[in-house]
Amino acid sequence: MNEEILRMEHITKRFPLGGGRTLTAVDDITFSVRRGETLGIVGESGSGKSTLARILTRLEVPTAGRILFRGEDVTALSGEALRQHRRSVQMVFQDPSTALDPKLRVRDILCEPLLNFGLIRSRDVPDKARELLRLVDLPEDFAGRYPHHMSGGQRQRVAIARALALEPELIILDEATSALDVSVQAHIIALLRTLQQEKHLAYLFICHDLYLADQFCDRILVMKQGREVETIRGLREAKSPYAQKLIASVFSVEEGKNKILPPELFQ
Ligand SMILES: Nc1ncnc2c1ncn2[C@@H]1O[C@H](COP(=O)(O)OP(=O)(O)OP(=O)(O)O)[C@@H](O)[C@H]1O
Ligand SMILES: [Mg+2]
Repeated sequence: MNEEILRMEHITKRFPLGGGRTLTAVDDITFSVRRGETLGIVGESGSGKSTLARILTRLEVPTAGRILFRGEDVTALSGEALRQHRRSVQMVFQDPSTALDPKLRVRDILCEPLLNFGLIRSRDVPDKARELLRLVDLPEDFAGRYPHHMSGGQRQRVAIARALALEPELIILDEATSALDVSVQAHIIALLRTLQQEKHLAYLFICHDLYLADQFCDRILVMKQGREVETIRGLREAKSPYAQKLIASVFSVEEGKNKILPPELFQ
């Protein structure tokens, strides 16, 4: 059995709304992720998925609960220890056109985190950039390009390569394939699978689409209004009406109308 790399225990996040009111964005969520495992987090807009991700990278501090990373309590880290934690947990976002600095060439985008951590020198940039581009199946001459001279799928490969640069143990993919065409999405998912096997990475795969999560994830945490609805190993296990509604909404978007779900999903 693979070693547990992350455990989120009873995580709650409340935001003050003013006038003494608060919004509970995440409400008593507990889950764990093992090395080499992909945990999906699925739920409609506003259900607290990105807030959980921001808590894990400690961009937000939880109101209550504990984050254990490799067995170490990282809930209250600060300074250098927090910086090192952020090295082990990388994020890839939905929209690569805003996530990548448009003024930088790909080689500088890829190597910026390595330079920041003092892991390479400026003269190492060209070689390191080529190595990272190879990792995500992009031609080496992309090193000299700017983000706006690439397709959405190519930009997302660059974002993945940058996330890999610091050799993290866990990568959060927050709607990382949602903006891409279905065929491009399939290529990115295949790449993520290969990288996971090579590097024994753990993924937290956040998306709206329970059907896509089913194809990619080992387990799926279904969230609604900050709470866990259920955690399932696949669509067929989905018992809650809420999860079934999420599945149906995907099919209705794809087909342009509400359709009866294929019965094999629930067999
Ligand atoms: N800094 C903040 N201050 C106040 N409310 C916030 C803040 N960040 C998030 N929220 C609220 O918390 C709830 C959860 O937001 P979150 O971004 O985690 O949802 P999500 O599941 O990622 O949604 P989406 O699928 O649209 O990305 C929302 O109601 C949001 O408005
Ligand atoms: Mg979000």
